[in-house]
Amino acid sequence: MTLNNRKMDSADDWWKRAVFYQIYPRSYMDSNGDGVGDLPGIISCLDYLNDGTNQSLGIDAIWFSPFFTSPDCDFGYDVADYCDIDPRYGTLADFDRLLEEAHSRGIRIILDLVVNHTSDLHPWFVESRSSRDNAKRDWYIWKDGRGKGNRPPNNWRNNFFGRAWAWDGKTGQYYLHSFLKEQPDLNWDNPEVREAVGDVIRFWLERGVDGFRLDVAHIYCKDPQFRDNPSLLKGLNRVGGLDAGDRLFIANLMKKFSLPELQVRKYNQHLPETHNVLKEFRRIYDSYPAVTSVGEIVADDPQVIASYYGSNQDELHMNFYFELLHCRWKAGSFRRCIDLWEKTLPAGAWPAYTLSNHDVVRAISRYGNDASSEERARLLALMLLTLRGTPFIYYGEEIGMREAKLPKVKLKDPVGIKWYPLHRGRDGCRTPMQWNGGKNGGFSEAPETWLPVNLNFANNNVAIQEADPHSLFNFFRQLIRLRRQLPALTEGSYQSIIENIPEDCYCYRRKTGDQELIICLNFSAEQRRIGYTGPGSIKVLISTSQDHPETDMSPVIMLRPYEGRLYLIV
Ligand code: GLC
Repeated sequence: MTLNNRKMDSADDWWKRAVFYQIYPRSYMDSNGDGVGDLPGIISCLDYLNDGTNQSLGIDAIWFSPFFTSPDCDFGYDVADYCDIDPRYGTLADFDRLLEEAHSRGIRIILDLVVNHTSDLHPWFVESRSSRDNAKRDWYIWKDGRGKGNRPPNNWRNNFFGRAWAWDGKTGQYYLHSFLKEQPDLNWDNPEVREAVGDVIRFWLERGVDGFRLDVAHIYCKDPQFRDNPSLLKGLNRVGGLDAGDRLFIANLMKKFSLPELQVRKYNQHLPETHNVLKEFRRIYDSYPAVTSVGEIVADDPQVIASYYGSNQDELHMNFYFELLHCRWKAGSFRRCIDLWEKTLPAGAWPAYTLSNHDVVRAISRYGNDASSEERARLLALMLLTLRGTPFIYYGEEIGMREAKLPKVKLKDPVGIKWYPLHRGRDGCRTPMQWNGGKNGGFSEAPETWLPVNLNFANNNVAIQEADPHSLFNFFRQLIRLRRQLPALTEGSYQSIIENIPEDCYCYRRKTGDQELIICLNFSAEQRRIGYTGPGSIKVLISTSQDHPETDMSPVIMLRPYEGRLYLIV
């Protein structure tokens, strides 16, 4: 392997210009034939991601889903040792090599910081549960039961299924878990916890990582009085939103599918103290050069999400805007979503966008698996890479990997196992990377892989797409290059264009002092015509459809079905 010792962008705000790529380590490349992806496997794929030539994908940074020591009840999101690599993925020495090899290619690395909770096998929790007077008892959230029936301390539900409290018979108290009972919540009111997590952050920054993705950062802190959350149904009832028939229907439905009581998460998320935790983290990041962070903050109100940038840009560097994942396939739905976020963001706050990740149905399948899926995937790629903000590509998105439909016996995600067939869980978007048409799609030599490779791998893989100049992979590759060359795409302002635009097209302008671009996206299955009436003339730089007229300077834009184009105003 030849290393191209290119210089990294040394500016502190490199992450504003970067294209990120999310890797789910279990599924990327298995080097030792055990059916599970690993760090040496990932190292062998770095050239695919960026070898410094125009042939590779060309990404600038990787976010790794967790590869720390874990019993895998939630597949790495239950960490048993924050400062070591799970043996299935490799060793700390492998990690150091991964970091060095990535950096030598100009690729930065950010890690998943999962610190709302630990694994129940983390030594902190093992100690904490050992006795009521253990020094680490208060590192987690322990409470007595309520009333004669020893009911759970309050009505909080966890985010997967059931109540958020587990009974510990040995010490006679409940502990809080916002996800599985194997994922006890840390007590962020305890200064020792904050110190210990600070040490974890420093441990990785000392080793040279470039930042963190913060798992469920909006739920770290809890109501000091642990009050009951209000019931959603009762709330609706009070405002007259439900009649008796509605109530009966909902109650029966919930009983039939044993659905949890719906509640407004008033007291177990977005507590003001969380902002102080994030400020403390930020002070640590800022004591190292060029570190970044991106938050997984979930809220209905965009103002609430935006508040996590900090009043002084002193909390998160970036925040995912998950509303984008919920847009319908309508130009207006995407436009309104982005416009609202742009309007809400405080000055200087930098957006981060993603269309797929390890928790949701892959975007290419979310909008329907049919003959036009790939055209739609190109349109989404053009949007993702031309919006104002940092794009995150989910592994396999660049080749249009589909959501796999797995039978129940193959499922691993506890969410899918519990809710099947209502919800197949998150395994369908986590299947192994499809490298080629060989055994297990080139992912592994194992007789069986941890999740099956999606059945379509023979026609949908990297090898085929690298060889086809018109493939989705090559479209991503060109787009990433173009993004790097056009300052208006990385630094320019964003403004949507509404006048004279057909309602099934989404158009916007990206502009710096001396460069202006127009992006036109046709979400309809029919041809659409847009008249350009602005100053100068327009030149198409890239289109989602391969046979676009290279030198088209005409003021009338004819977009094919699902076609998107990027124009330079000359
Ligand atoms: C985040 C992760 C998800 C995980 C959960 C609990 O939402 O993205 O995969 O299950 O946190 O850690």
